[in-house]
Amino acid sequence: MTTNITILGIESSCDDTSAAIIRDGYLLSNVIANQDVHKEYGGVVPELASRSHQANIIPVVDKAIKNAGIKKEEISAIGFTRGPGLLGSLLVGTSFAKGLSLSLGKPLIDINHLQGHVLSHFINDLKNPKELPAFPHLCLLISGGHTQIIRVDSPLKMEVIGNTIDDAAGEAFDKTAKVLGLPYPGGPVIDKLASEGNPKAFKFAKPRIPDLNFSFSGLKTSFLYFLRDEMAKNPDFINQEKNNLCASLQQTIVEILIEKVIKAVKDTGIKEITLSGGVSANSAVRSQFSELGIKNNWKVYIPPFAFTTDNAAMIAITGYYKFQKNLFASHDFAPIARFTI
Ligand code: KG4
Ligand code: ZN
Repeated sequence: MTTNITILGIESSCDDTSAAIIRDGYLLSNVIANQDVHKEYGGVVPELASRSHQANIIPVVDKAIKNAGIKKEEISAIGFTRGPGLLGSLLVGTSFAKGLSLSLGKPLIDINHLQGHVLSHFINDLKNPKELPAFPHLCLLISGGHTQIIRVDSPLKMEVIGNTIDDAAGEAFDKTAKVLGLPYPGGPVIDKLASEGNPKAFKFAKPRIPDLNFSFSGLKTSFLYFLRDEMAKNPDFINQEKNNLCASLQQTIVEILIEKVIKAVKDTGIKEITLSGGVSANSAVRSQFSELGIKNNWKVYIPPFAFTTDNAAMIAITGYYKFQKNLFASHDFAPIARFTI
């Protein structure tokens, strides 16, 4: 193994400014500044996100280097998220990475944010080293922008074998939460309310989509019509049934995900599964996928909470693998808002 590769990762694709240091695959620091400014708008406001990144980026990177206990001269390369994401947000991280690269005389590595989510399972812990997923494995990537099943043949060779044809799983949580009058982001709020509810209280229709693809927009619409009809009978319906509605909705989303992963295992014969992305923080997703693994004798990797939502540790670990293959970025690389694996 090559030793002493120290990567600074920078993530600024959406509304989290984050910087992390990974040395030889082990995490030394991971600093995240969340942006509360979006809460009152019910979603991320791109212009406000860019401005917050601009204010946060220097203190966040500085803290990541300090927390890692290293000097900035020890950095081997700087990995930055090139996309996908909000262009104005990506520009802040990309431009900062270029400036730092020039001033330190260290190479740049461009990182695909989605590849970062997939490789978040390879972030190792010095105090508690873990078993890393084997290859090939399947990754169920469930976030606010993406819902994909990815066949992962090696750290840098992966292929999307299933994708959403409309909304992402995170959007299904966020949009239905909005209908219920819950704050943004709705996923964690639904998760919390669902813990006091009955997942079998209501039944919502599941989509019939061929292959390994997903669809979540129908669920949102049928949920909306269901509420409209019930509210006509009882105007206090949402208030009285909030916990049961959240639990049933969450259960439907989990079942849609599980059905497709079962099909993917059947189709590929691969029985090693990783979960990643913000929705993999969901308690029902975590517990039901764990049970599924035990029941079917699959190996299911549930990510630590810190690496489910956006973070720079996943960007740094991807940089670590690209560094070993000399996959560096040129200074004229521009961010890409729509970037696929
Ligand atoms: O990966 P992520 O931080 O950002 C993207 O790249 O999209 O994912 C954010 C998404 C949001 O839709 C949020 O509602 C969802 O992850 N999320 C959850 C939970 N925590 C975050 N969804 C359901 N249950 C949760 N506990
Ligand atoms: Zn993400």
